[in-house]
Amino acid sequence: MGYIRIMGGRPLHGELSIKGAKNAVLPILAASLLCDEKVVIRNVPNLLDVDTMTTLLERLGCEVDWDRERGVIEIEKGGRISMEAPYELVSKMRASFNVLAPLTLLNGRALVPLPGGCSIGYRPVDLHIKGLERLGFEMSMIHGIVEASIKEKPKGAHIYLDFPSVGATEHIMTAAVLAKGETIIENAAREPEVEDLANFLNRMGANIEGAGTSTIKIIGVRKLKGGVYFVIPDRIQAGTYMIMTAATRGDVLLKNVMLEHLTAPIAKLKDIGVHVHEVNDREVRITNDSVFSGTSINVLPYPGFPTDLQPQIMALLSIAKGVSVVKENVFKNRFMHVDELRRMGADIRLEGSTAIINGIEELSAAPVIATDLRAGAALLIAGLMTRGETIVKNIEHIFRGYNDIKENLKKIGADVEWHMIRTNIKGVRFSVKNNDLILGG
Ligand code: UD1
Repeated sequence: MGYIRIMGGRPLHGELSIKGAKNAVLPILAASLLCDEKVVIRNVPNLLDVDTMTTLLERLGCEVDWDRERGVIEIEKGGRISMEAPYELVSKMRASFNVLAPLTLLNGRALVPLPGGCSIGYRPVDLHIKGLERLGFEMSMIHGIVEASIKEKPKGAHIYLDFPSVGATEHIMTAAVLAKGETIIENAAREPEVEDLANFLNRMGANIEGAGTSTIKIIGVRKLKGGVYFVIPDRIQAGTYMIMTAATRGDVLLKNVMLEHLTAPIAKLKDIGVHVHEVNDREVRITNDSVFSGTSINVLPYPGFPTDLQPQIMALLSIAKGVSVVKENVFKNRFMHVDELRRMGADIRLEGSTAIINGIEELSAAPVIATDLRAGAALLIAGLMTRGETIVKNIEHIFRGYNDIKENLKKIGADVEWHMIRTNIKGVRFSVKNNDLILGG
């Protein structure tokens, strides 16, 4: 476990460039199991979650070459691909569950452990299972392991999702690419990462239309080839740095962002009183010289305000004048950061899945604990905007989703000290050198 010591209260200044989206790379890596030739993925961020997924692909029998400096991953299926995914990797990261359909299509049968609970609440996989069943997969579960089998090619089907789940949409879409006939997914997730996966699959020979809307049509093809694909920038990283800059009353230019993916966060930042300068459709500059005002936020599937920015914006709202209301509609229990923000003096009351925030002038620095990736980002923001010394324990969660976070914070003038002691991340290659966590070491 590690911690970060933050000497907060200084405005951040400078320029940052945003790398590829974690949530786009992970399903693309899982789907690349279906490609018959070499796949090259570019703009890959150097993240712990990507490490977990590439380690999983290697354990399954793929040859994976990851040039972390250049952000390029090459994957090729060597010999036989295993039909069993190891528990210690799947339990670390929910996105790895999406290897189930590809492994079943390759072997006729596959065993993948349930990804299990996590600190943002109960996360079932029933929509994945129902969707795959509609395509002809036989599904069962024993001893916490999901078993899928299929006798012949999957058959195209009309599938309605009760909730626009990102993972289920991606999993079903991946499975349907090689099905016989046409599959329609209704009430599909519209997240940009779903569209990016569809663009990747189409590049490899699939026939998918409508990704990015709530109706996706997939016409099955015989096989997928290989090819090169460039991943979209990470809108959650961009949003986090935007909130962080605003919270410290700084001035930071973010490059390589897709502003069309950030409509809701930008609208809310403007409501709060943050100056958002849309330099062009790939660059945004955040400045601030006014008082923040409270606002209400309805957290929703895309294009609504993203749940993955809810903890971070709550840190900012805790010092916004007046009352703010944040209703979380995606992960209804995603409030683990609230107690930690309260420890820093934030006045936040929870009523079911709604947080009512009474803005105060300033938080007070305190030791806090990061319970998950985005909670870690929120506490980092809280520490950076608060005068004095904040210690955020269990900070290693942040490496799951923020590449170059150490270098980036340094670049924009944050006064922080990282103390990486050891981690408990099993099955993932890393080393600790001079208090640094080095992925792949
Ligand atoms: C993805 C993102 C995650 C983000 C989330 C919501 C990746 C790797 N992760 O996670 O960062 O926070 O989307 O934007 O892309 N649900 C069910 N049954 C299912 C599946 C989901 O009830 O079978 C529920 C979940 O419990 C949750 C909601 O649907 O309440 C949304 O989950 P989902 O969109 O599936 O999120 P993930 O794909 O896990």
